[in-house]
Amino acid sequence: MKKDFLWWRDGIIYQIYPRSFADSNNDGIGDLPGITSKLDYLQDLGIDAIWLSPIYPSPDVDFGYDVADYTDIDPKFGTMRDFERLVKEAKKRDIHIILDLVLNHTSDQHPWFIESRKSKDNPYHDWYLWRDPKPDGSEPNNWTSVFGGSGWEFDPDLGQYYYHMFYPAQPDVNWRNPAVRQEMLDVFRFWLKKGVDGFRLDVFNEYFKDADFRDNPPAIGIRRFDWQKHIYDTSQPEMYPLLKEIRSILDKHKDAYAVGETFLANPEQTASYCRGGDKLHAAFNFDFANCRWHPERFMKALNQWYGSLDENSWPNNFLSNHDMKRAATRYCLGEEDQRAKVAAAMLLTIKGTPFIYYGEEIAQRDIHIRRKADVLDPVGKTFWPIHKGRDGCRAPMQWNGEVNAGFSQTAPWLPVNADYPRRNVARQISDPDSVLNFFKKIISIRKSEPALQNGEFKALESQESFIMAFERSLEKDRLLVVLNFSSRELSFDLPVGEWASLINPGQRLSGTMAVHPYQVAILKFNT
Ligand code: NOJ
Ligand code: CA
Repeated sequence: MKKDFLWWRDGIIYQIYPRSFADSNNDGIGDLPGITSKLDYLQDLGIDAIWLSPIYPSPDVDFGYDVADYTDIDPKFGTMRDFERLVKEAKKRDIHIILDLVLNHTSDQHPWFIESRKSKDNPYHDWYLWRDPKPDGSEPNNWTSVFGGSGWEFDPDLGQYYYHMFYPAQPDVNWRNPAVRQEMLDVFRFWLKKGVDGFRLDVFNEYFKDADFRDNPPAIGIRRFDWQKHIYDTSQPEMYPLLKEIRSILDKHKDAYAVGETFLANPEQTASYCRGGDKLHAAFNFDFANCRWHPERFMKALNQWYGSLDENSWPNNFLSNHDMKRAATRYCLGEEDQRAKVAAAMLLTIKGTPFIYYGEEIAQRDIHIRRKADVLDPVGKTFWPIHKGRDGCRAPMQWNGEVNAGFSQTAPWLPVNADYPRRNVARQISDPDSVLNFFKKIISIRKSEPALQNGEFKALESQESFIMAFERSLEKDRLLVVLNFSSRELSFDLPVGEWASLINPGQRLSGTMAVHPYQVAILKFNT
């Protein structure tokens, strides 16, 4: 039984893709002063922390996930002073800052890589994964890149290949080199000193590769990348002691936090990086986000996730991020928002820290990219038209019905969704039935009920497969959540006793409850 409020466990984390949140200087790209100007909005929404996708200097081959300097701010986002001001202003509002650390690879424009490729005896050469060709000149082994093609890029001047799991412009660093390890750990220390409260670790289980660079064994799959089992290029055992070392650095700062993004890992492997309380605080479970619209699917994914964690670890849950179609795009029918509300209620009341992706609170939809020529994300450029890339979920935040949705006075780097005159923050604030006001309501219920934050979780059976029902309990408090995932009226047998509705104060229920189409009920046991 846990009671005291701990921000990363009991609070709500809000992911911002900085390019797309708010543009303060009207160059079409969101920036740090833009984010600072929206802190009151975020405080009012009720979030406790912001995860910022990368803000470091970057040539933007992968829009910030190719870092050219780990300890500075890209001028397009502002200055270090702007960042310090953001941290200070956020703290005033009890909002914590989580930075995205992309430490598996750097940009090929990072000074380390520029040095590294100068010569084989350059002190930085061994900071990356350089290998000689095979005697016939071919690649050192069969490893492929998840962004398409071989994982090896040949440098004719050096006569060697370097390895990249992502784009050739994102060379993987050599985490087995102690100097690299030291330098990367110092990056954590640098930002902690600046007042950052936590980190999101990009594809952290990719840091180490097999020391002998063995070939991956074959597998059956659709993409070339899936034609092999990725046992030697990912999830190596060396990651566990490294995570412990990272944790010991974090533990020197009060309540500092790390959440990891696993790559190609199932929930069990993902959980293994959190169990024991001496490694990560949390890691992302993609199975839950990938569920189709059915309560049994979500419940199965949750049970597997909860079951993989131990008493020293705490779950976290998300439905959207900058790499996948938004939940509202996937689940909602047309412009209807009922499913977005059910999804929000589920995310905010199940056990685990909820992550909200910017715009999710207004059920923002993806933009449609119609022509290959319009694609900016290199994933889309490479795989068009099978995969149109990730631009769709990265479009500007829709603030109001004015020009460019109030995001910028200039044409934004990605188009604003054409539905913005109807779907925007300003309009939803004044509509009592909006998704935004629904989010606020559920968040305020969550804030006033510790059982919804860190209580126990118990799934309840229902005759109706489209009902999700569960209890959250903490000490004497018992909360019951009933969600109707369908457009039909269903019924649910309440557990014995009288239950008070927290959504419709004053309403008391017992026995069999009629659950209206897409209804969300949050009930509290009357003692
Ligand atoms: C995962 C990030 O979420 C994604 O956006 C990026 O392209 C890859 N890692 C490579 O850094
Ligand atoms: Ca700007």
